[in-house]
Amino acid sequence: MQRLHSNIVRLPRVCRPAIARCNHTQASPQRNTLESEKKTTSFGYKTVPEDMKESLVRNVFDSVASRYDLMNDVTSMGVHRLWKDSFVSSLKPGKKGPLKCIDVAGGTGDIALRILDHAKDNYYDRETTVDVVDINAQMLKEGFKRFKLTMYHNTPQIAFHEANAQDLGSEKFSDNSYDLYTIAFGIRNCTSIPDVLKEAYRVLKPGGTFACLEFSKIENPVLSTLYDTYSFSAIPILGSIFAGDRESYQYLVESIRKFPPQPEFAQMIRDAGFSTGPNVDGGAWADMWGGIASVHKGVKL
Ligand SMILES: C[S@@+](CC[C@H](N)C(=O)[O-])C[C@H]1O[C@@H](n2cnc3c(N)ncnc32)[C@H](O)[C@@H]1O
Repeated sequence: MQRLHSNIVRLPRVCRPAIARCNHTQASPQRNTLESEKKTTSFGYKTVPEDMKESLVRNVFDSVASRYDLMNDVTSMGVHRLWKDSFVSSLKPGKKGPLKCIDVAGGTGDIALRILDHAKDNYYDRETTVDVVDINAQMLKEGFKRFKLTMYHNTPQIAFHEANAQDLGSEKFSDNSYDLYTIAFGIRNCTSIPDVLKEAYRVLKPGGTFACLEFSKIENPVLSTLYDTYSFSAIPILGSIFAGDRESYQYLVESIRKFPPQPEFAQMIRDAGFSTGPNVDGGAWADMWGGIASVHKGVKL
């Protein structure tokens, strides 16, 4: 096994060089065409065979990886930073002692870095650890490069793994092993949300917390129209100018609209076995900026 780390990119044994890939959900060769024709899912506003979505999403993030962080700042005018800060602060990592965390669909490590910084800056905790998991090796490579410039590089506090949120693999990610599971702006890109939630439930310890930050549904019609106008007209153009990729940003905007509204997503979290607050804003979820983004939390009983 080759390690892509200065020290601590802990990779699954079964994985291949560089940032290794653990693809537990590849369609079996036996899976026939008829079956894949039957099952469809959304890829933005397009309907695609379920087993195609993963590679389409992979292409999107392959294409945007090197410009991903810049584009987040450009398209959100920096607001994603505030949302992520608030998301991580609300989890108070380190407050009750060091945590074992997994940040799924973790991309370039935005959430992981905030978790480690929060624990260090507020509680002098240098023992909290984060496993960053993503399906896309390019995104992970960007994250790895970024962490090289931090004090966490070469420490047991951070590791990057290529794996699918829907099937992390029980060999590497064992049952009941994490205190905190985070997923930010990632779950809407996954083919099966229930499968992601089921895996989250499996890997969390009893009492562990599931926390998801995702674009959501805006209740206020004026804000909703303004936001729609901005996102459908400006974001694909910005994608074209700054990342040379209009289509990927068109998909990212469309995928936001296809994500279930807050009460429906909260129900899916409960269906996976988590306990949540009541089905209202301030209970099972907390809206940010009128619901442009929302934080859902659940506790494994
Ligand atoms: C919009 S980015 C979010 C990255 C990071 N969490 C952040 O907030 O900046 C979505 C990430 O989800 C990853 N992703 C998509 N489908 C996935 C899957 N099935 N399993 C794991 N990661 C996935 C993509 O590769 C991408 O890095």
